[in-house]
Amino acid sequence: MKLSTKEKSRLKEKYGEWAIVTGASSGIGLELATQLADAGFNLIIHGRNLEKLKEVEMQLSANSNIAIKLVAADVSEQEGVEKIIQISQGVNIGLLIVSAGYGTSGNFIESSLHTEINMLKVNCEALLSLTHFFSQQFVSQKRGGIVLMSSMVAFQGVPYSANYAATKAYVQTLAEGLAIELKPFGVDVLAAAPGPVKSGFSQRANMQMSMSLKPSEVGVPILKALGRKTTVLPGLLTKILVYSLRTLPRWAKVKVMEKVMGGMTAHQRQ
Ligand SMILES: NC(=O)c1ccc[n+]([C@@H]2O[C@H](COP(=O)([O-])OP(=O)(O)OC[C@H]3O[C@@H](n4cnc5c(N)ncnc54)[C@H](OP(=O)(O)O)[C@@H]3O)[C@@H](O)[C@H]2O)c1
Repeated sequence: MKLSTKEKSRLKEKYGEWAIVTGASSGIGLELATQLADAGFNLIIHGRNLEKLKEVEMQLSANSNIAIKLVAADVSEQEGVEKIIQISQGVNIGLLIVSAGYGTSGNFIESSLHTEINMLKVNCEALLSLTHFFSQQFVSQKRGGIVLMSSMVAFQGVPYSANYAATKAYVQTLAEGLAIELKPFGVDVLAAAPGPVKSGFSQRANMQMSMSLKPSEVGVPILKALGRKTTVLPGLLTKILVYSLRTLPRWAKVKVMEKVMGGMTAHQRQ
């Protein structure tokens, strides 16, 4: 999937010249960075691994004539977040995409508390710090866009991935509130809430996904929704999964998710 010429111009006019994409070394972040490069945005691309970022830089430079800065930083640590902020100094940033994140799954009582807290820091604390810093900057320049990666698991509790779903509920709720609060200042905030997407995610989360979207099926819908919606459910599979649950009371949605996530994590309990 590609952005139309009209859509590329809209994004550039509203949010150009530079975008920051965290988690750009893989999956959804990589797809968003690729689409933005194609639209002519200069990019600050972030991930933990510098070698992977250099490969992404080569890939992006081969197809577009844009400036690219790399920042390798673990955002579970405050210094990692500071590194991203530092590299953005003096750069005309108009777009922040926070895609760095990961999931966990399995029986909660058998999980590592260290890992669960680390995930909370990456998915919520780092996202909050970056959103806070760049919202202030965007409000003062009276324009900007912020995309926060939520998930379809954000809309109800999810047995066997309870803490991951809770981190995404935080992201979803934060984005919904900020979208209204920052709109009068010319700043657009979007919660992107995909269903399963084939990326590095499932391996790290130890989930077995039977159906999934490709990152190329979610990137364009996310960028098209920015400035037009508060929440996007990118891809047909996401819409089918979320809408099929929508009429159920919340307790029943949790029961359905018990079955769904139970299947995705069954291998861990054999
Ligand atoms: N895939 C799905 O099914 C799905 C569905 C809904 C929502 N999401 C959300 O979408 C976002 C992107 O996930 P994805 O599917 O693209 O997964 P992915 O392919 O695993 O990419 C995750 C990205 O986050 C970075 N990252 C992870 N931990 C980090 C840390 N401590 N510090 C800095 N960077 C870190 C990774 O960098 P390295 O490569 O250096 O590790 C990578 O660039 C996540 O927030 C995820 O929760 C994913």
